[in-house]
Amino acid sequence: MKQVFVTRKIPENGIAILRERGFGVDVSPHDRPLTQDELIEFLQKKPYEAVLSMLSDRIDARVFDASPSTKIFANYAIGYDNFDIAEAKKRGIYLTNTPHGGVDRVAEHAWALILALSCKVVEGDGYVRAGKFTGFDPMLLQGMKVRGRVLGLVGAGRIGTEVAKIGALGFGMRIAYYDIVRNPEIEELHNATYWPTVEEVLKQSDIVSLHVPLCDATRHLIDASKMGMMKPSAYLVNTSRGAVVDEVALVDALRNGVIAGAGLDVFEHEPAISPGLTELSNVVLTPHIASSTVEAREEMAKMSVQNIVDMFLGGKPTDMVY
Ligand code: GLV
Repeated sequence: MKQVFVTRKIPENGIAILRERGFGVDVSPHDRPLTQDELIEFLQKKPYEAVLSMLSDRIDARVFDASPSTKIFANYAIGYDNFDIAEAKKRGIYLTNTPHGGVDRVAEHAWALILALSCKVVEGDGYVRAGKFTGFDPMLLQGMKVRGRVLGLVGAGRIGTEVAKIGALGFGMRIAYYDIVRNPEIEELHNATYWPTVEEVLKQSDIVSLHVPLCDATRHLIDASKMGMMKPSAYLVNTSRGAVVDEVALVDALRNGVIAGAGLDVFEHEPAISPGLTELSNVVLTPHIASSTVEAREEMAKMSVQNIVDMFLGGKPTDMVY
């Protein structure tokens, strides 16, 4: 019986698929991310053939050395910056992700952050709860109407395309986007304009939403100088990976009115949050839950385990990351 180690509890439908297909499954008993040392300790207890990993598990040479029996690491995530791909390739180890899992849900969450900022939902909620509401005030908490504004996308893959669709069809927004490859779908269906540099998008956008994977080229892509190019009235929304934004520079930019606000579902050093961020009233923060619905998380469970099943019963997983 092939053995699978699952590094954190996932929806039961995924575990059931593995068991039905004859795999032995052990799930980490801890309701928290494992440290790499803890992961290695678990992997040394049994010769696991497959590991179902979280985006918080650093999967690199140390893990590969510690668990030579493991042929596949199947991420329960769209992103896979936690993998050392070059090292896995060298060793012939398979790495997979869940590229379609929760895509539309992440786009909805990006929009939840955009609307929370532009309608001052969180500030307003805090104001009412604090007992400050004394009656209708024409000057109170004025937000920004999004209709007709420019939505800037940095990254226009599956999620960026969904975000564009909601902006164009729902709010009549003009879409400006940058990506390393052009996306004919958003140009044709949503009249999006392609710009060959991130800077061009930042300069003209009222709302900037980030949808790039984290890699060497995108780490701190949005730094102090890029924030300085944005309109002082603009909002920055990040549902991709925290380290795409220089979070210390962001706190400064938000404090000093360089930009008007930020909506973040991801953090540079998560779960740690950069000092100062939680004290600002012009940010909306959510705990990496953009894909969190029952449906999306079950879909991700199904896709991640399917890669393990395909690898052992079909010869090759579907969603290889290289
Ligand atoms: C979540 O961040 C994911 O990559 O699926």
